[in-house]
Amino acid sequence: MKALRAAPLLLLGLAAAAPAGQQIVLHGNENGAMPCAACHGAQGQGNSSIGAPALAGRQADDIVAALNLMAAGQGGNALMRRIAAALTLTQRQDVAAYFASLPAAKP
Ligand code: HEC
Repeated sequence: MKALRAAPLLLLGLAAAAPAGQQIVLHGNENGAMPCAACHGAQGQGNSSIGAPALAGRQADDIVAALNLMAAGQGGNALMRRIAAALTLTQRQDVAAYFASLPAAKP
């Protein structure tokens, strides 16, 4: 029940985070994180030729969880671990909200 009541607030927070997330996705951050769009695509559609998965339309929570794991040195590859670690937790939430807001690529 508690989680249900918090949901609208969470959604508001995610919507507000999208512009900050877009900035990082397209331009990287001040801490050396490369622009996600370079590999995952400007629309988050992914790039199978380099093994970068699509992120558009994925659940924000899932993306944050994956980034947290990689920042902690688990999962992903060495470069993604470095990128994830270069994002603050807030920035991970911002980029996740932005990717979640994009329409999932058509199969
Ligand atoms: C240099 C290319 C490159 C850049 C830049 C990059 N990624 Fe990735 N990313 C990858 C590749 C390749 C993988 C797949 C890693 C693996 O599991 O082997 C990946 C995996 C991920 C995953 C895990 C997805 C899953 O299904 O578990 C997330 C989340 C992610 N990237 C988010 C980001 C974000 C957010 C940024 C920008 C801050 C970013 N990536 C920048 C190449 C990149």
